[in-house]
Amino acid sequence: MTTPDSRVIIVGGGVFGLSTALWLARGGYKDVMIFDRCDFEKDLYNPSSNCDGASADINKIFRATYGQQTHSQDLALEARNIWLQWNKEIRQSSPSELPEPLTPQDQLLHLCGVYHLADGPEMIDRYVENLKIMKDTAPSFRDLQFVKDSPEDEKRAADLGPEWAKKHHLFDHFRNNRTNGFLDAGSGVTLADKACVYARHLCLKAGVKFVLGRPKGELERLLIDQSSQGKRVQGIQTRDGQSHFADIIIVACGPWSSSVVPEAHRSVEATMGTLMFIDVPSNRQDLRERFHPDNFPIWRFLEGEGDSAYEGGGFPITREGRLKFGFRARKFTNFQDHPKENKLRISTPRTKYSSEPINTVPLYGLQRMKRVIGGLFPELKEIGFTDSRLCWYTDSIDNEFVIDYVPGYSDSLFICTGGSGHGFKFLPILGKYVKNQLEKTPDRFTPLWKWRSVQEGKPCNGLEEGENGPREMSKLELAKRKCYKPLIYEALLTEEPITSRRFQVPYRELFVNLGYKDIDEFPSK
Ligand SMILES: Cc1cc2nc3c(=O)[nH]c(=O)nc-3n(C[C@H](O)[C@H](O)[C@H](O)COP(=O)(O)OP(=O)(O)OC[C@H]3O[C@@H](n4cnc5c(N)ncnc54)[C@H](O)[C@@H]3O)c2cc1C
Ligand SMILES: *[C@@H]1O[C@H](CO)[C@@H](O)[C@H](O)[C@H]1NC(C)=O
Repeated sequence: MTTPDSRVIIVGGGVFGLSTALWLARGGYKDVMIFDRCDFEKDLYNPSSNCDGASADINKIFRATYGQQTHSQDLALEARNIWLQWNKEIRQSSPSELPEPLTPQDQLLHLCGVYHLADGPEMIDRYVENLKIMKDTAPSFRDLQFVKDSPEDEKRAADLGPEWAKKHHLFDHFRNNRTNGFLDAGSGVTLADKACVYARHLCLKAGVKFVLGRPKGELERLLIDQSSQGKRVQGIQTRDGQSHFADIIIVACGPWSSSVVPEAHRSVEATMGTLMFIDVPSNRQDLRERFHPDNFPIWRFLEGEGDSAYEGGGFPITREGRLKFGFRARKFTNFQDHPKENKLRISTPRTKYSSEPINTVPLYGLQRMKRVIGGLFPELKEIGFTDSRLCWYTDSIDNEFVIDYVPGYSDSLFICTGGSGHGFKFLPILGKYVKNQLEKTPDRFTPLWKWRSVQEGKPCNGLEEGENGPREMSKLELAKRKCYKPLIYEALLTEEPITSRRFQVPYRELFVNLGYKDIDEFPSK
């Protein structure tokens, strides 16, 4: 049994590792250590500086709308209180009390709103359901949600403040106003890297020890003892050859989790999301103002279903002038040999900082992003994308987390992962319930987060596809960096139902839909 006297090693210092460590240490655990191969002390969770976990990012969405998954909604609302508490603590600190690069002006959660938008004039079922469930279960949050094109909600948005009235209409110009959705003013943007830095700071204050950076923070292998009583993990060996012993090893390695625990490869899978950036030059104060979180919400856009679906979104501008856009309609896999296990192939993250670095994105998502983003923000089309990133999800078979003992190790090995693209917002709260699972105190999450694997013959969030599935990265064409700009040009030439390259009738409509006033505005080759 894991108790406050247990010696705990956590491998992975992203959201799942940090939150677990914080709640254990604050709950009386005296010996909690986090190992991570990224040197967060120096690189501060900065995705442009050697940090390639999902948590190391400039921003992430905080939302509480979860439709029927009311357990996630409740967890998000519980987290929200702590996010706002953290904001307050930071605001009331003197600069010297805060860890670099935080300043008292930073709001880890900025309630700039999230605009849930979709193609077509009728509200899509998902949004209808989201709104209804919010109304039934958390009416005070439903009061902060404003349906696009609803006159009553128009009035309520204006009552909340003139900035909300403006945000409510921000997307009217797109596709001739033939879009649907709602603005959620109770949600907003988290400063991901700074939030992790702050959580680490709180961990340090609570007594958590960190071993960071290569080679000393990188797990080389689990130290497994095979005795007559069964298999146990006794500790870990790090890349510098050192052994570290503990009573319980918690693997929170995000998309690398099955690289460490091969048994997990049918429970969680690394899949790739495409992120694109636009760095707005400092002489474009007009754009910096327009996309400032006070004036601009996070947005998400859904279009179509199946193969041609679009699911993606974007963020308000950062203080440094960076706009981030994500695409996740299709999440790709990258099958490689398992680093330890013979004959096992698993999807493995590949990033800018991998041994075989990659510094571009699949053309597939890029083309679609150019079309949607070029249409939404014609004012950005000249700047075009200036940078990109592949960011790796850890998908479970049902998008619920996987937080449980790994079977067959006599309760010495525990896995804490499966963020499935929505784990970040829970940073302040997740560990509270991880601790329950560790201590075998059942709660509402126990049945959802239990160890589970792909079931034969059932759709399991793509995990059942394996290496031969259609999402495998080796089958993809990658974009050349020069394709990053301008925003929509080549998407039109390559993937729209084009009957002629001389821009005849269907084009005029298309152009207008894309936000261009006229064909003449379209950049010529
Ligand atoms: C593109 C994208 C967008 C997302 N957007 C949102 C969002 O808007 N809102 C939201 O709530 N959630 C979002 N998520 C989900 C969220 O980011 C994740 O659920 C969460 O960050 C996962 O945290 P983690 O700790 O499990 O993994 P990670 O953050 O990936 O951390 C794993 C850590 O393990 C370390 N590690 C791995 N192997 C080893 C080893 N051998 N030795 C030592 N250390 C090791 C890595 O260095 C890394 O730091 C998004 C995810 C992605 C990929
Ligand atoms: C979009 O449609 C809504 C609802 O009909 C209307 O209130 C709004 O003014 C329209 N906006 C534009 C720019 O046409």
